[in-house]
Amino acid sequence: MQIRHLISIKHLSNKFVEKLLKSAREMEAHPEAFADRAKGKILADLFFEPSTRTRLSFESAMLRLGGNMLGFSSPKGTSVEKGESLADTIRMAHSYADIIVLRHYIEGAGRVAAEISNVPVISGGTGSQEHPTQALLDLYTIWKHHGRFSNLKIAIVGDLRYGRTVPSLSYVLSLFPNNKIYFCSPKQLRVRREVLSEIEGKVEYEELEDLEEVLPKIDVAYITRVQKERFPDPQDYLKVRDSYVITPKTLGNVKESFILLHPLPRVGEISYEVDKLPQAKYFEQAKNGVYVRMAILDYFLNYPWEV
Ligand code: CP
Repeated sequence: MQIRHLISIKHLSNKFVEKLLKSAREMEAHPEAFADRAKGKILADLFFEPSTRTRLSFESAMLRLGGNMLGFSSPKGTSVEKGESLADTIRMAHSYADIIVLRHYIEGAGRVAAEISNVPVISGGTGSQEHPTQALLDLYTIWKHHGRFSNLKIAIVGDLRYGRTVPSLSYVLSLFPNNKIYFCSPKQLRVRREVLSEIEGKVEYEELEDLEEVLPKIDVAYITRVQKERFPDPQDYLKVRDSYVITPKTLGNVKESFILLHPLPRVGEISYEVDKLPQAKYFEQAKNGVYVRMAILDYFLNYPWEV
């Protein structure tokens, strides 16, 4: 069996995730061995929302695999401005490229694109719904530091309502046994009920507000930005934007093996003084995105292994 598109972590098995991340580890260790895997192939990156990491790391991954890319980093300057639909944009992209990475503000845009496209569609994040490739690189970073996918205690912190990395990370953690998630947020930004319904019975979880309460017992804290652009009322954003600010003092009582992650960009949730601490792994996490996205592109272009 082959998976045709990567729109949601919910479509993946733990075996698939393990195999993909082991492939990413091979690519990190021996990049030269994979330098021709996408030779003659073209990636279309269609970004309807801003991005630095997702777009550039997919492009870097495609170049490292010997491929090329085309696309846009904003709908400005494309025929979307003249009213062209997403469906027709996808029809054009699949005529010009062998694989599509799509970031869109509309939830469900990835599913629509996958239904239309003749070539694999990889979600680069849609609305507040999901960001599956981010969750895969998050788990890769956790695996590199803790050496396991299971028996992990993880606090996911901040904007759990609008942050799209939150559902995807929760789903991927729920594929492996004995993980525990602490959802840590202000009341207004609690994790959405549909996400809890999806993980119910698959992974243990707890909702709380006080991060300091759990810091000494967790393996990973995953801090997220409060998503200003998704608040219907800007006043509501101002009330919660500084709910959690990590400083060196915050991390005074963590386990020796503890790591601090953030999908980035940060806008004040982690003070710059934290960057030099050994627990700060968020820039390495972003770099890992290249290897994980190399493995994703290789899988969907070449299907090198069976699911
Ligand atoms: N983590 C992430 O998706 O970053 P970008 O928005 O810069 O792609």
